[in-house]
Amino acid sequence: MKPMANAPPLLDIIQSATEPIITVDAQQRIVMFNSAAERVFLCKADRAIGASLDILIPARFRDIHARHVDRFRETGVSERKMGLGSPLWGLRANGEEFPMEASISQTHSAAGVFLSIFLRDITERERVSQALLASRDELTRLSNALLHVREQEKKHIARELHDDLGQSLTALTMELAELETRLPPDDAELRGRVEAIRHLTGLTFTSLRRIAADLRPIMLDDLGLAAAVEWLVSNFVSRYGIDTDAQIEVDQGEPSKLVATALFRTVQEALTNIAKHAQATKVRVQLSCSATLCTLVVQDNGVGATPASLARKLPHALGLQGIRERVRLLHGDVSISTPRNGGFRLKAALPAQPPQPALPHWEDT
Ligand SMILES: Nc1ncnc2c1ncn2[C@@H]1O[C@H](COP(=O)(O)OP(=O)(O)OP(=O)(O)O)[C@@H](O)[C@H]1O
Ligand SMILES: [Mg+2]
Repeated sequence: MKPMANAPPLLDIIQSATEPIITVDAQQRIVMFNSAAERVFLCKADRAIGASLDILIPARFRDIHARHVDRFRETGVSERKMGLGSPLWGLRANGEEFPMEASISQTHSAAGVFLSIFLRDITERERVSQALLASRDELTRLSNALLHVREQEKKHIARELHDDLGQSLTALTMELAELETRLPPDDAELRGRVEAIRHLTGLTFTSLRRIAADLRPIMLDDLGLAAAVEWLVSNFVSRYGIDTDAQIEVDQGEPSKLVATALFRTVQEALTNIAKHAQATKVRVQLSCSATLCTLVVQDNGVGATPASLARKLPHALGLQGIRERVRLLHGDVSISTPRNGGFRLKAALPAQPPQPALPHWEDT
């Protein structure tokens, strides 16, 4: 390419470039060092020119860098990105190292081969990306902690309801039975009233059990995942009368407690959603856990949902988002699809024994 006659001299353009440009000769001696290079390397061109390129490279990278540059010159390729994606390191005159991206090109003239290095100081970008990673880690730890606290609270309330209120209701039923034996046999009205109280106590007991089990079925801890999911399904069938086929295979040991809880909550949310939104007449729940992987599919034949309608609901709907987050924290994945023959299909796959999620570090106070 030949510049137009009235174009500024190329050296002026190079001098005014906002990114550092450095040219070295075949011996890797600096022959050109623009103003941006002076700013980034904190080194005046007068000092740099004539010096070895080594003054700009941390000592531990000098040999390998020199070999790379020599190899590049031998290939005859005119231009190449340096570092292959990982940041290179530069050395400022004050001894500070900094990450950079660079590309190299070669030109041949009567005076020999020259290599030009075009580089960019990415200190700020690396700092921002490190800060972003750290804050994402912190958020993940926080989500984990919140889920953990919520589960612990639910478990605590469920135990209290079951053990404390449940015991009181049992005692009340026994007291009523005792009272009944002492009632005058001919006082039908009084007998009727005690019977009504006993019936009401029985109903309250049933509700209490249901609420406690919804919070967290004690059987998830005591009998394991398969029994707890079977309980969820049979409870769903008796509440909503929807024909439900469950295939549950948990062999080769239980998944970790966190995975079992996540799967239980996923089935619970999926079934609640079917009752709320699907207008389905058939549901299939498939849960299979091997020693390494758990897969859950909950599918119905109802009205389904389009991606657009899901996107509209998303800001207010927490159920599916909560499930996604829960499964993601355990290194798993949730996918939602609307099968061709209609309905709604939720699939979750997660490792059976993922690494223990990290919790936030809190300073002792
Ligand atoms: N089985 C289903 N059939 C049809 N649509 C469904 C089904 N499951 C979920 N959806 C759709 O996906 C949306 C999001 O579900 P999600 O569980 O996140 O929220 P929600 O059930 O509306 O509210 P929340 O769970 O927060 O009480 C629902 O509003 C509904 O439109
Ligand atoms: Mg929901």
